[in-house]
Amino acid sequence: MSLSGRRILLIVSGGIAAYKALELVRLLRRAGGEVRAVLTAGGAQFVTALSLQALTEHKVYSEIFSLTDESEMGHIQLSRSADLVVVAPASADILAHMAAGLCNDLATTLLLATDKRVLVAPAMNVRMWQHAATVANMATLRERGVLVVGPDEGAMACNEWGPGRLAEPPAILAAIETALAAPALPLAGRRALVTSGPTHEPIDPVRYLANRSSGRQGHAIAAALAGLGADVTLVSGPATATPPEDVRLVRVETATEMLRACQAALPVDVGVFAAAVADWRVASAAGTKLKKTPGGAPPELQLVPNPDILATIAAAGPSRPRLVVGFAAETGDLRAYAEDKRRRKNCDWIVANDVGADDGIMGGSENEVCLITEAGAEAWPRLRKEEVAGRLAERIATALAG
Ligand SMILES: Cc1cc2nc3c(=O)[nH]c(=O)nc-3n(C[C@H](O)[C@H](O)[C@H](O)COP(=O)(O)O)c2cc1C
Repeated sequence: MSLSGRRILLIVSGGIAAYKALELVRLLRRAGGEVRAVLTAGGAQFVTALSLQALTEHKVYSEIFSLTDESEMGHIQLSRSADLVVVAPASADILAHMAAGLCNDLATTLLLATDKRVLVAPAMNVRMWQHAATVANMATLRERGVLVVGPDEGAMACNEWGPGRLAEPPAILAAIETALAAPALPLAGRRALVTSGPTHEPIDPVRYLANRSSGRQGHAIAAALAGLGADVTLVSGPATATPPEDVRLVRVETATEMLRACQAALPVDVGVFAAAVADWRVASAAGTKLKKTPGGAPPELQLVPNPDILATIAAAGPSRPRLVVGFAAETGDLRAYAEDKRRRKNCDWIVANDVGADDGIMGGSENEVCLITEAGAEAWPRLRKEEVAGRLAERIATALAG
């Protein structure tokens, strides 16, 4: 009985998946939860108040201007008496109302008046889900700390295929259990930018300059920040590590593209620059494959400096993140170099790691870092990259809370 004594306010909005809300109520009740249901006018086109009432064993609320409801339980009280507000299915329409702060019916008024956390389970046609308006609305809601489960990808009722299917009721139940088990996440409502992986700087259409970075450390940091509730944009070069799922992933190839993607992700509260960005690129990459000719001299590559992403983002200005964390990968005299880099690049912290040839850090699964802050240098023991990420994310949460 994982939800024993927990009260869930379930808002059922208008969509073909509304029938699955009935199964969700059954699962919630079986887990010991008490469910109060609110049915929107759209929702009532798909399921009946009677079904919800029978399964919840409570009156179902629909009308904002019902005198009976207001005298029995006013809308403010209804919005606050739950431990968690769940919108399942969440139609494109109700999500748009939430993002805009509109409240022209009972459900949207409750959502604006509540002081509790809100979990939405979107369900809609794939085009509706991918529409720029819905994408922007979801970004706004996530930024405000609204929790999201799904949607799933698959065949849709409208014979199309793609993301937009309501998450299955057991997955929604699991998300509700997680939301109720976890204390409010320390980075909820915060935005983070993380860079990760190497960059590829083209020589010609088939060759490039690169490095051994796997992206594992940066990806783990993005995952750890998202795990603490941050809304994370992960700008990744061509990394071999699998990116985490609960982040906004922007894939890039070159340092120039990475800088552009970082600037587009601003403003953020914290920026963590873990990517191994190439310092130089070929001055003018050949448009066609460079040919080896018998007896011919090898081509001479002229290199020019790449943009300095860390220094550019860390420069003082209105869009500078509150906390800028750079990485320094060196093969000797690590601490002195990292301390100098912190000052030179105007960043707040540097995570310094020695990437000498024999330590297996570059591209490996472990890391041994030294955290350089204004207060001094802290050597951390050799840890798995996920553990380094977890520690760093905790430190970031503490710093942003301060
Ligand atoms: C047959 C049918 C199926 C629909 N399915 C969905 C859906 O899955 N998701 C969605 O966002 N809207 C869907 N709509 C549109 C919504 O019902 C409509 O936007 C409605 O105003 C939503 O109201 P509500 O969000 O206030 O409940 C559907 C409409 C019809 C006629």
